[in-house]
Amino acid sequence: MRIVKSKRDLRALVSSWKADKQEVGVVMTMGALHEGHLSLVGAAKTDNDRVIATIFVNPKQFDNKADLDAYPVDTDADLKKLEDAGVDLVYLPQAEEVYPKGYSTTVAVGTMQDCLCGATRPGHMDGVTTVVSKLLIQTSPDRAYFGQKDFQQYLLIQRVASDLDLDVDVIGVPTVREGDHLALSSRNRRLSADQRAIAPTLYKVESTIADLIRQGEAVDHVLEWGRKVILDSGFDRIDYLEVRSEEDLELFSDVADRDNLLSGRIFVAAWLGNTRLIDNYPISR
Ligand code: PAJ
Repeated sequence: MRIVKSKRDLRALVSSWKADKQEVGVVMTMGALHEGHLSLVGAAKTDNDRVIATIFVNPKQFDNKADLDAYPVDTDADLKKLEDAGVDLVYLPQAEEVYPKGYSTTVAVGTMQDCLCGATRPGHMDGVTTVVSKLLIQTSPDRAYFGQKDFQQYLLIQRVASDLDLDVDVIGVPTVREGDHLALSSRNRRLSADQRAIAPTLYKVESTIADLIRQGEAVDHVLEWGRKVILDSGFDRIDYLEVRSEEDLELFSDVADRDNLLSGRIFVAAWLGNTRLIDNYPISR
C-alpha cells in the first residue's frame, strides 16, 4: 500500500493507473476508522481495480474548535486497517496541502443544506462539500463511496457532482451497526459505559416510528412520542427528530399520501453529554 502526502504524488500514481485503463474508487474519511469505513472500502474493492482512501480531518467542517480538538486521531491503526482491507493508496495530506495560503473558494449547495445537520451546525455542510469537491478533483476517481449514515452529506455530494459535471459515480453504502443496532461512529469512543447503554435508543425509536407510520399513525404524533422516549432514556438534548423525503429532504408532516410517506426517512441527532450522535432510518424497510 502506497502512502502519499502531496497532490503531486497522488496525481502521478492515479494517472499511471488511468493510462493502464484501470478503474479507480475512492473512500474519503477523517480517520479513527471502524467497520463502517471499511464497508465502504469493501464496496470500492468490489467495483474497481484500484482503491484510494483519504484521511483528512477537515478543519472547515467543524463549527466548534473544541469538537475539532477532541476528534480522535489514530493514524498508525488506521493505516494497518486500510492495508488489511486491500487499499492500494492512502492520501494523507496536511492542512496546508488542502488549503494553501490564500485559499478562498467555497463550494456551497443551494438546496437541502439549511435543514438537519446544516441547520444545527452552521458552515458544516459547506465545509464538507468544499473538501469533498477538492478531494474528488485531486483523486479523479470513477466512483466515490459515502455512507448512508450521513445521508444529508451523501445527497449533497451527489448534487455537487451532478451540478459541477464531475465525471464520477457517487455511491451510497448502507449503515453498519453494532449488535444492538447503534450505528458505528468514531464518536462512540467518547461515550461512558452508561451513555453507551443509552445510545441504542435512537435506533429503537426510529424503527418503531417507521412501523407506526406504516401502520397509519400520524407523523407528528409519533415524532412527539419519539422525542419523549429519547429524552426519558437519558439523552440530554435533541437537535432534530424529523421525517423527510430521501430524494430531496423535503419535510414530511401529516401527509395523507401513503406512497409518498414510504419514500420518507427518519432523521435524528441528539446529545449524550458532549457527544452528538446522528442516525437515520427508511420508513419503507
Ligand atoms: P467520516 O465521519 O470519517 O466518515 C467517512 C465515511 O464513512 C462517510 O462517507 C461516512 O458516511 C461513512 N460512515 C461513517 N460511519 C458509517 C457507518 N456506521 N456505516 C457506513 N458508513 C459510515 O464523513 C466524513 O468523514 C467527512 O465528512 C468526509 C466525507 C470525509 C469529508 O471530510
